[in-house]
Amino acid sequence: MELRVSSRRIFRPLLALLLIGTAGVYSAAKAQTQPNPPVDTMESRVQGCTACHGTHGQGTDNDYFPRLAGKPADYLYNQLVNFREARRKYPPMNYLVTYLSDDYLHQIATYFSQQRPPYPPPATPTVSPATLARGKDIVLNGIPGKNVPACAACHGSQLTGMQPAIPGLVGLHADYISAQLGAWRSGSRHAIEPDCMHAVAIRLTDDDVNAVASWLSTQPAPQNPVPAPASSLKTPLACGSEPQ
Ligand code: HEC
Ligand code: HEC
Repeated sequence: MELRVSSRRIFRPLLALLLIGTAGVYSAAKAQTQPNPPVDTMESRVQGCTACHGTHGQGTDNDYFPRLAGKPADYLYNQLVNFREARRKYPPMNYLVTYLSDDYLHQIATYFSQQRPPYPPPATPTVSPATLARGKDIVLNGIPGKNVPACAACHGSQLTGMQPAIPGLVGLHADYISAQLGAWRSGSRHAIEPDCMHAVAIRLTDDDVNAVASWLSTQPAPQNPVPAPASSLKTPLACGSEPQ
């Protein structure tokens, strides 16, 4: 499992970067023959992002490239800063945002938060019905015996997240979800302190992670997939990125 994810993490993104590199050379060559300088629109700024995240931030078929569209703007902004400050590690992302200003990152985050492309069809389950049932139970009820709060207590009953900075969990691939929970457990992903997701993730076993990731990836998006309003839920643990 670990191996499968890490080879994807390395090789597919490299291929995508190569593609972007070629596109860059091509547009540079084109620019030389163009009379007018290219206009600095939001679409042109995010062009380097879309090979991996889709034209409207809908994600791609690659299990590992996450959807950005419709996630709360402050959540996306926090992640871009996390990559810039190395609180999250994924070399192509760390590299792309190294020299971008807070203001620029804010504009990119706002742009993707406002995109509304359709959600992918829910994944077909590849685990047993018992594992799916366990995943559903953890997401909706938590694991009281281990002090794991319900994921829905913070990510919303519709799992579409909460403004301003809690992301939705629908529309993500199982491999991406389990890799993120794994990154929190191993300490390679951090959020603003107190890092409530670290507290949640370290209470989960490998089997729990597999169960929640599998169940979440099989859930269709709700009719109106917008994040819940700010402060509409009282988070059961303190989260630095979602002050209440
Ligand atoms: C080479 C492929 C690639 C490119 C190009 C790329 N990304 Fe990413 N991005 C990823 C991957 C893979 C992740 C998940 C990394 C991880 O945490 O393991 C990610 C994560 C993110 C996240 C966090 C998503 C979340 O839900 O937590 C944001 C925001 C983001 N990227 C924005 C951008 C923006 C903006 C650009 C363009 C400036 C960009 N990305 C370009 C592959 C890419
Ligand atoms: C106490 C509130 C809280 C609870 C409970 C909680 N989360 Fe989170 N979760 C957050 C916050 C806040 C973030 C954003 C962290 C950041 O800024 O990186 C987050 C982010 C995530 C992400 C990253 C999404 C992405 O696009 O990269 C995943 C995956 C996730 N949570 C899964 C879960 C699962 C599964 C559970 C239940 C086992 C859970 N969360 C329970 C608050 C919570």
